[in-house]
Amino acid sequence: MRHPHTRTSRRRVVGVLAVSLLALGTAAPSVAVAREQRSAPTEARGLALTPPMGFNNWNSTHCGPEFNESMVEGIADLFIEKGLKDAGYQYVNLDDCWALPARDANGRLVPDPVRFPHGIEAVADYVHAKGLKLGIYTSAGTKTCSSTGFPGALGHEENDARQFAEWGIDYLKYDNCNNQGADARQRYVTMRDALRDATGRTGRPIVYSICEWGDNKPWEWASGVGQLWRTTHDIQDKWSSMLSILKKNLPLAPYAGPGHWNDPDMLEVGNGGMTDTEYRTHFSMWSVMAAPLLIGSDLRKASPATLGILANKDVIAVDQDPLGKQGTVVSSEGGRWVVAKQMKDGSRAVALFNETDTPQHIATTARAVGLPQAPAYTLRDLWQHRNYNTAGAVSATVPAHGTVLVRVSPDRHWSKNPPAVELAADSAPLVVAGRPAALTSTVTDLGRTSAHDVSVSLTGPEGWTVRARSAPRAHAVPTGTTLTTRWAVTAPKGTPTGSYDLTLRTSYGSPAKVRATNTTTVTASVVVPPPAGTSYLGDLPWMSATNGYGPVERDTSNGESAAGDGRPITVGGVVYAKGLGTHAPSEVTYYTGKACTKVSADVGVDDEKGAKGTVSFEIWADGTKVASTGVLTNAMAAQPISADVTGAQVVRLVVTNGGDNTDSDHADWADARLTC
Ligand code: GLA
Repeated sequence: MRHPHTRTSRRRVVGVLAVSLLALGTAAPSVAVAREQRSAPTEARGLALTPPMGFNNWNSTHCGPEFNESMVEGIADLFIEKGLKDAGYQYVNLDDCWALPARDANGRLVPDPVRFPHGIEAVADYVHAKGLKLGIYTSAGTKTCSSTGFPGALGHEENDARQFAEWGIDYLKYDNCNNQGADARQRYVTMRDALRDATGRTGRPIVYSICEWGDNKPWEWASGVGQLWRTTHDIQDKWSSMLSILKKNLPLAPYAGPGHWNDPDMLEVGNGGMTDTEYRTHFSMWSVMAAPLLIGSDLRKASPATLGILANKDVIAVDQDPLGKQGTVVSSEGGRWVVAKQMKDGSRAVALFNETDTPQHIATTARAVGLPQAPAYTLRDLWQHRNYNTAGAVSATVPAHGTVLVRVSPDRHWSKNPPAVELAADSAPLVVAGRPAALTSTVTDLGRTSAHDVSVSLTGPEGWTVRARSAPRAHAVPTGTTLTTRWAVTAPKGTPTGSYDLTLRTSYGSPAKVRATNTTTVTASVVVPPPAGTSYLGDLPWMSATNGYGPVERDTSNGESAAGDGRPITVGGVVYAKGLGTHAPSEVTYYTGKACTKVSADVGVDDEKGAKGTVSFEIWADGTKVASTGVLTNAMAAQPISADVTGAQVVRLVVTNGGDNTDSDHADWADARLTC
């Protein structure tokens, strides 16, 4: 993997040659014409005709010491070894912190000799030798974004662009920090022109990635300036961040196209802050949005699951479709999203995306996503890599936070494929260890043809027993009909509380003579029954707890970061020994198993934040809001809240931000009690 670091600079020779020919006026009719040609927009034409694909170190390393030459070259090696280059990944991009904090005496940027002991040009040569490309980073300001403050390019555009071009750089990410309030459009255009000039000399084009975080609506002006522009602030490796960026980027579909893309920031797939289901959603939705696919995890440590997601060629083909359309929202209701992308071959990629915390039936039709009327269509599942036929329904029961991604074609050969089926469970079962819990599964034929000899199975984790209480098979399931099966699921006594995955699978034959299968995951929660009598909620185990900052605290206020960092619960000068300390937005869920009657508490904003903080409190019994306060502020004393929760399986304590922001929203459920 090591390369010899002795080289003569081919590019520099070419550059010098081109400049001297120009000066002599021999290669071109006149210097003026040559300059004209060089700065014509045709240069940028042909760049990033599909969204750029590659790697950037930022999301995995930030400015940490592991960001260095050996990492970057190791990633280039892995692009080849793991088939990622084959799958379309091309750019290996360096982010902030590659340089020394000061320019040299000639005003040139100096690579950090510890991170890049052989310089950047050596890395470019290494990467180019593998048929890959190298990207670099700087800021349209006096310094970059890192707190160390590396030199930015504002006022140095021409020299820095020339230096990048000479090094053999193929991609520039141009950030927005320390911009001195100068006009954004002007700053980004100046660098575009500098890049044009510099690459006109070397003949090596540079993809120009505008990173002003969407602050100046670049989608309205940056087409023709750069090939891509960030639409949002930085992504973080968590569900809420990915989701909010997704929602900001979706409406910008009309602005995207070949050579000018919306950039909702780099991928977090594999960094560990989301589940694989969530990472598949991230990758599916970025592809449907024709977003740049820049891997943000350290591939040297990537699991097979991470590589499997990143190298999914069926999904990449959606992102890289040459028509270059960004998918648009067909419907979104109650967190059930249908997003469709028109493809060059006339098909549609359709994402059925479930934003919610429970499985959802998400449905559309071939007509609704823009396909012509036809007796049937071919539907390819892009994560299961299987083809089916559909009579027109495009639907699935999608796991919490999951995405089913399919490609639907009006194709005459649909009958070669077995019918599509929708496989579902009626609920995410709540299981008390040692006691059977009920579950119902359904297999519905969506195809033009019927499913024959259909069987369905449900498998639990090791040690669990699963029994069919009605027939798990049918001779035939014709178009539009359903096989329904009832099951009893038992977790062994002593199973710890938490989430457990069961696999629901169906297998069936069809007139096409192909035996087909389909599988889905059913998530069960192992719970403990609530104790009889009245208990403090702070003493009971919860099923789940989400919180705006830090964890939910038992019997103290919320300290915003680590567990146990709160203070005594204090509202309106009154101190409480018992309760829950939360921070909006928050939701704490308890299993009540239809055995409880009442929840009560004194609620308010904790005194610890002075005058700040506005929240409202809600109590939910299953899907119904059974009590709520209005907006409460820090100036108010604690308010009593109580609710009848008779018959509820699950009770949720919810705190919202009171309709403004989440600043200082320390929300206390003082003296919270449950009666069963
Ligand atoms: C900004 C950018 C990030 C990253 C950092 C580097 O925050 O938006 O993507 O480049 O700067 O400092």
